[in-house]
Amino acid sequence: MPRTIIVSNRLPTKAQRTEEGLHFSPSEGGLATGLGSIYRADGNVWVGWPGVEIDDPEEQRYVTEELRNDSMAPVFLTQDEIRDFYEGFSNETLWPTFHYFSQYAVYDQTYWEAYVAVNEKFCQAVLELAGPEDTIWVHDYQLLLLPQLLRQARPECSIGFFLHIPFPSHELIRVLPWAKPLLEGMLGADLIGFHTYGYMRHFLSSVAQILGYPSQNGLIEAGQRSVLVDAFPMGIDYDKYAQVAESAEARASEELYREATGDARVILSIDRLDYTKGIAERLRAYELMLQQYPEWRERVTLLMLVVPSRDQVEKYKELKVEVDELVGRINAEYRTVGWTPIQYFYRSFPLEHLSGLYRLAEVALVTPMRDGMNLVAKEFVASKGELPGVLILSERAGAARELSDALIINPTDTRQLAEAMHEALVMPEDEQRLRMGNMQALVSHYTVYHWVRLFMDRLTYIKIKQQTLA
Ligand code: UDP
Ligand code: G6P
Repeated sequence: MPRTIIVSNRLPTKAQRTEEGLHFSPSEGGLATGLGSIYRADGNVWVGWPGVEIDDPEEQRYVTEELRNDSMAPVFLTQDEIRDFYEGFSNETLWPTFHYFSQYAVYDQTYWEAYVAVNEKFCQAVLELAGPEDTIWVHDYQLLLLPQLLRQARPECSIGFFLHIPFPSHELIRVLPWAKPLLEGMLGADLIGFHTYGYMRHFLSSVAQILGYPSQNGLIEAGQRSVLVDAFPMGIDYDKYAQVAESAEARASEELYREATGDARVILSIDRLDYTKGIAERLRAYELMLQQYPEWRERVTLLMLVVPSRDQVEKYKELKVEVDELVGRINAEYRTVGWTPIQYFYRSFPLEHLSGLYRLAEVALVTPMRDGMNLVAKEFVASKGELPGVLILSERAGAARELSDALIINPTDTRQLAEAMHEALVMPEDEQRLRMGNMQALVSHYTVYHWVRLFMDRLTYIKIKQQTLA
């Protein structure tokens, strides 16, 4: 039976070195958590990097065996590849550019060469695994060249590509010295998906302006082939989050954090440590709220979970220092004997704890500068069940296109964000329930299962249409 081969840089399971040897745990990040619920079906396989350098052939065999039992196939990256392909081109060139942080982007030929080489390495790994009938579904910005490489090897193969981050205006794309090969690389796919119509429009105009390929209704005429482009806003496994939130473990962890926060109302934020997430800006807005509304002092706590991410990359190191300093300063300035304004955790949490926190929080702050989708916003909604709660959401997260019942803010407008926190804390419960109910209706309908079905249906459609066009 034909299978789907999922390919992404990071596998949903990561290996870590501990004193007792290699240890496996779930990966963080929306791609891994979102698709983690579905990939095991129907003999599917997920190809990707297990997140740590493993050179020893004996260890490689062990990891391959462990992952195979869970339908995964590892691609091992060397130390140089991790530095130049992963930290370098992927996260110092493409990530900042695609999130409108071009001023952070590094343009380095060595990084580019490593990017090409690792995309070729992934291509080999996929070709060894995939049969001619299998569908190959490539994910995200680390593998933009892979669709074209696969196409050259398998001209007839069904190839889908999905970008989990924003696609910016062509003005930013054209700044990249490698804009043309990157776009050509993506066009090796039959279907290219984005989270929003906005990203899709930017992509179509980049393809028109930079490569000169016209398009009509999302269908690009790229040389001899037609490529379909569409928007597919990614959802979550709603039932999983709703059920875990009702579990004894989630309630116990809610209780635990409730004891730690005392009577204070809880505002929650959860993100990877990333400059795109607006963490420092959010802290400044929280401080402004405490200044403008002194009545909230000792009556509210910001519970801020920050998950370590890409910590060898310079801009991430700098951000860590900035966030540590800001938290330290605000806490030192406002804390009282019985009250800590910000409870700051720098580590990752198991799902049951996240769920307990989603239950506990009256307000969730999701305030990225740019974010492809942001699944934390949807997880908060799904975890609330019958409980009230208010979501404050950045207009520049993909999720804002769907969750219009959130308090939508501009994350650079500190004053507006401070006001929104106050507004959320005083919002009548009826209104909270109404807004939350509307968002739950949407998130429970457009789940990750729905997303996969829609994407696969469109892929089948374009394969048939290509034959009629040929
Ligand atoms: N997450 C996690 N462990 C943590 C904190 C967060 O697995 O300790 C998950 C979170 O539940 C969410 C994902 O990481 O599913 C973050 O996805 P999102 O789309 O919000 O942002 P991304 O990290 O992909 O930019
Ligand atoms: C975002 C990206 C993913 C990435 C994740 C975690 O969600 O879209 O491709 O896997 O962040 O980042 P990392 O660099 O740790 O894989």
